[in-house]
Parts: sequence; C-alpha cells; structure tokens
Amino acid sequence: MAFNENFTWGVATASYQIEGGADADDKGLNVWDVASDTKGRIFEGHSGRVGCDHYHKWKEDVALMRSLGVKAYRFSVNWARLIPAGTGRVSEAGKKFYLDLLRELKAAGIEPWLTLFHWDYPYALYQRGGWLNPESSDWFEKYAKVCAELFGEYVSRFILINEPECFVGLGHYSGEHAPFLKLSVGDVARAAHNVLLACGKAEKIIRKTCARPVKIGTAQAYWPALPLTEGDVGAARAHTFACRAYFGSPALWLDPLLKGKYPQDYLAWFAENGFVPPAEDMEIIKSRLDFCGLNTYSGDLVKEVGGKAVAVVPPPSVPKTDMRWNVLPQAMYYGPKFIYERYGLPVVYTENGVALSEWKDLNGEINDDSRIDFLKRYLRELHRAAQEVPVEGYFYWTLYDNFEWAEGFSKKFGIVHFDPETRERTPKKSAHFYKKVIETNGEEIFG
Ligand code: NOJ
Repeated sequence: MAFNENFTWGVATASYQIEGGADADDKGLNVWDVASDTKGRIFEGHSGRVGCDHYHKWKEDVALMRSLGVKAYRFSVNWARLIPAGTGRVSEAGKKFYLDLLRELKAAGIEPWLTLFHWDYPYALYQRGGWLNPESSDWFEKYAKVCAELFGEYVSRFILINEPECFVGLGHYSGEHAPFLKLSVGDVARAAHNVLLACGKAEKIIRKTCARPVKIGTAQAYWPALPLTEGDVGAARAHTFACRAYFGSPALWLDPLLKGKYPQDYLAWFAENGFVPPAEDMEIIKSRLDFCGLNTYSGDLVKEVGGKAVAVVPPPSVPKTDMRWNVLPQAMYYGPKFIYERYGLPVVYTENGVALSEWKDLNGEINDDSRIDFLKRYLRELHRAAQEVPVEGYFYWTLYDNFEWAEGFSKKFGIVHFDPETRERTPKKSAHFYKKVIETNGEEIFG
C-alpha cells in the first residue's frame, strides 16, 4: 500500500511568507513589503517584514526539516533580494543567502525544489508598469538566467511561477492581493499573456544555462470541479477547464504552455474585451515541461443537468477548514486524473494542506488531530489516483505557520507551530505523523 518507490515527500514554503529581513543588506522592496506597510491591507495590521525570520534562522530550519525526515524542500527566491531593482545588479548578500541555504540542504540530504516567483514582485519593476509592461517577460527571463547560473549546480527541479491564477486574478483583477489592482478584463488578459511569455522564455533559458539536465514545471492553483456522482464526471471535467469569465481555470495557463494555444472560450472572452494575443508569441510560450505541479486544497462540487455542470452546495456535513474551504478529499483523486488525461504529464502535488484554528496547550503541545485526519483523507485519495496516473510527489503546505498574505498570521497551515512573538518553532502532533508517513512511504496513512 506504499507509494511508488521514487515518490518525493516534501514540505513547501514561499519567500515572502517566511523570510522577513525586509530591509536586510541591500534587498529591494517588493509589492508585499509595501502592502505590509500600508494601513488596512493586511489582517489586523500584521506584517511580513519580519515574517518567521527565516532570513536569520535558515540553518535552524534546515535542521528542523532534517529532524522530520523531509526528503525535499520547495521554497522560492525573493526576486528583489537577489536583484534589488528587479533587473541589473545582483546583490552579493542575496546570492550568499540562497547559496548558503542550498549548501545546507545538500549537506542535510534534502532535495531543493526552487520556485522562481511566488508573488513577491520587485517594487521597482511594479513602478515601471509591472506585468503590464511589454518588457516584463524579458525582465523575468534575465532573472531566471541569473537563478540558473547561480543555483543550477544545486537545483534539479525548477518551478517557474506559483499560482498565476492568484497573483494575476487576485492581484490584478479582484484587488484582494498585492498589488491590489482592479484592472479591466482586457488589461488583466494582457498581464496574463506577459506572464505566459515570461514562463516560456524562462523555461528555455534555464535549459540553455544549466550545465546538467534539470526538470521544469509549474505550480497551478488547482481547484477541480468534482462530480457529485459517477454520472457527473464528464461535466466535472469540462467545468474544470472552462473559462467561466475568470482567470482561475488551469486551461488558461496550461493550454498555452503545453499546447501552444489558448482555449477557444478564453480567446472569445479576451477578444470581447479588446485583447487578441499575437499569434507569433505562441511559439515562445509553448514549453517543454517535465511535470505539472498542482496546489490543491479543495474543489467545487457539480452535477450534470442538461449536458451542463451545475454547482452543488456541499451538504452541511462537509467540514470546513479555518479558511472556510470545504474538506473534499476526492479533489486529490479526480484532480490528477483530469490533468493527466488532458496534458499527459506526470503530476506533483506542489502544495496541499489545511488551516486550523488551534493553539499551543498549557502543557506546550499542539494536538492537531484534525490535520492528521485531513492528511489521511487527502493522501488516501491521492494514493487511489496514483494507481491510475503518474504522481511523482507530494509537498505539504507548509513547514510552519507563516504569513498567509492578506490574512496575516491568523491562518495556521503549518505542521510546526510558529510563535510570532518569540519566533520559536514547535513541531505539532501532525509533524510527528508526517514523519512516519515519509518513513513508511505512505503506508502510515492507512493506519
Ligand atoms: C497557495 C499559495 O501558493 C500559498 O502561498 C498559500 O499560503 C497557500 N495556497 C494557502 O492559502
């Protein structure tokens, strides 16, 4: 009942959510630093400027992961820490920080999975128009080249961009995330197109720059439609990839990258809003990816009515997490199947986890039994999927409680408790459970 023998077990984090050190050395500002400084942007005025102080505690954090038996670590590079102005001069301090981290991981036998961009966009580039600037994909290409040159010796898996659905959709359309813009559909489509160009250029430059073969993938915010009954599978599949006049469908991102074309419904929606993607860009966007990274927390229940998917409100018996997301473990079964059927690429769960309202007991323990239960339920469904389609790995989101964007520190996803006052890290009961899951290559989830 174990997973495949080469299955990768890891934990994931992101630079802005854990690093802190916002003004350390010559680091440049990014859009989330600015949001943290702006009143009313973040829950109860929380700030990521000190974050979990990983910038100073990285050694301790690698030791923590090692003690948990973690095999792989997914983290991201803070672009403006490495290149303060977003383009041009590389910071010696930034370079040293990531090289020290990578060397420490290597010594601990932990495989680094490096995400190039997890939302902390350099503020200097934002002031030049950000993702709307026609040069934005070239800036990203140059940044990717620097990362490949400096870190390619240590990194065998690169993830290009984390959840474009969110930083484009929430950041540029609905205005819930930095840079808190509410642009027109046409302008957001232009920004999305530049993000896709950036991915295509980065994929090519990384392969060209790295001396040894590397694997390159994405990390999609993937919230599949889920069939209410077996008879609703076709409708759920179609709904998962449909445009639905929003920027969250995986097809908007993965069709251009993997098939070299936008889905018809997106082309129509964009054209109605005055944007026609230049045909000659599609060859640049089209990429050779090695795996499809998925970040899944839940899904949307649907049933088929007259050949169409209709949303179903989950019954009140379905538990909700502290994010008010429905606990629907079958997302881990249908999700990878839908992706593999459409794109034929192996799947990696680059994120999955649960936020719970919990605290340290008087005796200093965090008995997060519901997180253990969540892990068992979601991983059993993933195991079921892995019997049918290639699934290469699973990264729990996240190592320790951290800065959950506009929610600040109020949402706790970690298997390790983090105290923002003392900055102390304390493994929760689920950390010990996850360690056993890794040791048994998954068998522990059936216990
Ligand atoms: C997806 C994002 O990549 C990550 O940054 C975030 O903290 C988790 N989901 C939980 O919301």
